[in-house]
Amino acid sequence: MTEQNRPNESQVPEQYKRSIRSFVLRQGHMTAAQQKAIDTLWPDFGIDYQTDAIDLNQRFGRDNPKVLEIGFGMGVATVEIAKRLPEKDFLAIDVHGPGVGNILKLIEEEQVGNIRVMRHDAVEVVENMLADGSLDGIHIFFPDPWHKKRHNKRRLVQSPFIAKLLPKLKTGGYIHLATDWEEYAVQMLEVLSGFDNLRNTAENYAPTPDYRPETKFEARGKRLGHGVWDLIFTKME
Ligand SMILES: C[S@@+](CC[C@H](N)C(=O)[O-])C[C@H]1O[C@@H](n2cnc3c(N)ncnc32)[C@H](O)[C@@H]1O
Repeated sequence: MTEQNRPNESQVPEQYKRSIRSFVLRQGHMTAAQQKAIDTLWPDFGIDYQTDAIDLNQRFGRDNPKVLEIGFGMGVATVEIAKRLPEKDFLAIDVHGPGVGNILKLIEEEQVGNIRVMRHDAVEVVENMLADGSLDGIHIFFPDPWHKKRHNKRRLVQSPFIAKLLPKLKTGGYIHLATDWEEYAVQMLEVLSGFDNLRNTAENYAPTPDYRPETKFEARGKRLGHGVWDLIFTKME
């Protein structure tokens, strides 16, 4: 198709529109230890992408509350949270290979049994692999801020994606976002406040709960003099 006759976005039927591309596949160096962790631990802790809904209880081997984390980075905070909340199960998704190797390595080192890892675009996982009402919580910590105006459209936290995400959450479940980019924090507050079935647990931004340690990206933001904003909303119906 030539540039000239390619339809523009507004002419493309809704079902064919590409959803947000919220990440750039960074090359990043995979250490030998990270690669070894993938080779040896993926069968036990990895979940391959598929286009049908999966049974999370079966994947974790128990019927405990399930929390989805999108964009775990190197996984250090995720593993710490899983240790602090051993009664919950964490489905941790990222696209970054060295991060996947690193979280698997940490899972083994720390002997953590309540994390399963996926290496795939979380938008597609949400669209295809998660059953409605299957989650008790959702964590999205320091998603890429895409701070340039022309890149804002690549932000993960936008109404259309949150609208796809919320049916996956049980009534009474929560969504916890955090960012070090003030303007994104304002956008997050606007987006979540726009859903009638969500209730803010705070007046605006929430205190950082005890279960969330400082993340790698958060520490970097603080070194640059950024603030930190947490948002926690619960689903009403
Ligand atoms: C800025 S980093 C933050 C990592 C970590 N949460 C932290 O606070 O240190 C954002 C992460 O989200 C991942 N990411 C972005 N979009 C994603 C998507 N659609 N699916 C899965 N991971 C995604 C990126 O690969 C990256 O590792």
